[in-house]
Amino acid sequence: MAQTKKLVIGNWKLYIDSPKEAKELYRASQNAARAARRTHVVVCPQTPLLGLFASNVSSSIRLGAQDAFWDVEPKHTGASSVYALRSLGVSHVILGHSEMRAAGETSHLVSLKTQTVIKHGLTAVICVGENERDMRGGYLTTLESQIRESLTGITRPKLASVVIAYEPVWAIGKSADQAMTPSTLHETTLFIKKILVSMYGRKPGTAVRVLYGGSVESKNAASLMQEGTVDGFLVGHASVDAKEFKAIIASVDKA
Ligand code: 13P
Repeated sequence: MAQTKKLVIGNWKLYIDSPKEAKELYRASQNAARAARRTHVVVCPQTPLLGLFASNVSSSIRLGAQDAFWDVEPKHTGASSVYALRSLGVSHVILGHSEMRAAGETSHLVSLKTQTVIKHGLTAVICVGENERDMRGGYLTTLESQIRESLTGITRPKLASVVIAYEPVWAIGKSADQAMTPSTLHETTLFIKKILVSMYGRKPGTAVRVLYGGSVESKNAASLMQEGTVDGFLVGHASVDAKEFKAIIASVDKA
């Protein structure tokens, strides 16, 4: 996947449970993705549904997983290995989502998973984001430590397989008018790029794709894209609404 293309990832979370619904949504997302010229599209169904699409991954649409286990040894119950995911055609793995962090996932664990995912040829979509915006700027410290710790062990040559998804927790699962404003997103994207540049140097640091997630809908997609200076979106609830997702992809492609 060329690093310069824009990226829209649909995180279906547990919104879609049935194979029938999943197939319909996948087909609609694939059609929307085909119409995009400069944007890659990835959809991430829950793990038990991934196999439905194993033979239907194409250059227009890619398959992502919502998590992967950090170890490849067989003695782990209840996990999903990168081997299994890869054999189903998965190319991207969401890691460190705030809903996983809320359930106890640490940045240390995210870094172990990131290393495993990249080692086996997949792209790690590392989610970071503050719970709230405090007046004293503590959220910047949270953001910086999440980025630095989650990227522990990731060397410069591996960076092409990393995507950072900035998802402020307070903006997740709401509606477009409660999402982050484009100008605040712009400031935060610059902050994230600055951390990446300080870790890896100017060229490699600025080349890492940064996505925004948190109540992205067709209504705010264009302005967040243009003014927010992001490379695309990680979309939750609007990615399971075929019309909304299509409109978001079109906005990103046009930006
Ligand atoms: P919403 O788009 O529903 O706010 O979810 C964002 C998200 O968590 C994507 O990973």
